[in-house]
Amino acid sequence: MRNVVVTGAGGGIGAALARRFAAGGARVIVNDVDGAAADAVATDIGGIAVPGDAANEADVHRLVETAWSELGGCDLFCANAGILTGGAPDAPDAEWERAWQVNVMSHVYAARALLPRYLGAGGGRLLFTVSAAGLLTLLGSAPYSVTKHAALGFAEWLRATYAHRGITVQALCPQGVNTAMLNSDGESASKSLLAEGALSPEAVADVVLDALKSDNFLILPHPEVADYYRLRATETDRWLGGMNKIQRSFEGLS
Ligand SMILES: NC(=O)c1ccc[n+]([C@@H]2O[C@H](COP(=O)([O-])OP(=O)(O)OC[C@H]3O[C@@H](n4cnc5c(N)ncnc54)[C@H](O)[C@@H]3O)[C@@H](O)[C@H]2O)c1
Repeated sequence: MRNVVVTGAGGGIGAALARRFAAGGARVIVNDVDGAAADAVATDIGGIAVPGDAANEADVHRLVETAWSELGGCDLFCANAGILTGGAPDAPDAEWERAWQVNVMSHVYAARALLPRYLGAGGGRLLFTVSAAGLLTLLGSAPYSVTKHAALGFAEWLRATYAHRGITVQALCPQGVNTAMLNSDGESASKSLLAEGALSPEAVADVVLDALKSDNFLILPHPEVADYYRLRATETDRWLGGMNKIQRSFEGLS
């Protein structure tokens, strides 16, 4: 990869991706809604900081414009920014809405801005950081689970629609990764469970680098997720029963 854009790259998985691509010789645009965090990573890796909200269409357009004006293009756009919102159906509408905007519409805005350029150039790459929650579910967080399923659905749709036109779409679906997202925002039973098998963001970046060679749609840093996903598809009731058993254990009931 020569020219790369990473959203949410001021910390966590996005920063690890940005550092890994820069170490491999790529020129990297570092986006984050936290401008100081974007600046710090960009300075470290000799990249370009473009602060902005990945869930704001004008900001995403600016990001893509900057890739073409400063780097001459974008071989790979990593739509990585995402937020974890806890809660059940009674989470406030504003939280459902923000989860939808950041976890889903940011991907739509990226595709909208990139597709005309990618199609005109005969191809390009989009990497969406989704989550294992988009293939399975995350107990304790309905907005996150639902919006990550939607993000995966959008990635599948893009891949199915544009693969023959040179556009490669991949979905990164880790379980726990040791970042601020996993380690802050209060304690939840699911997060404690995920923390047990958590990978470092650097390990996830290594898996991504390798997966870019294969073009496989799903990138699974935790390989066991493939088994859970298979079970969910083929033995749905058994899988749901297993998930409910975990929920009961969270509630101290089993
Ligand atoms: N950490 C995990 O366990 C885990 C597991 C699976 C998937 N993910 C996904 O990985 C992605 C990155 O998560 P992370 O763990 O690195 O989180 P993080 O909170 O550590 O880092 C996310 C970064 O994105 C930035 N950001 C948040 N909203 C933004 C927005 N609207 N526009 C631009 N930047 C924004 C934050 O300021 C932060 O620097 C997310 O999509 C998340 O859902 C994380």
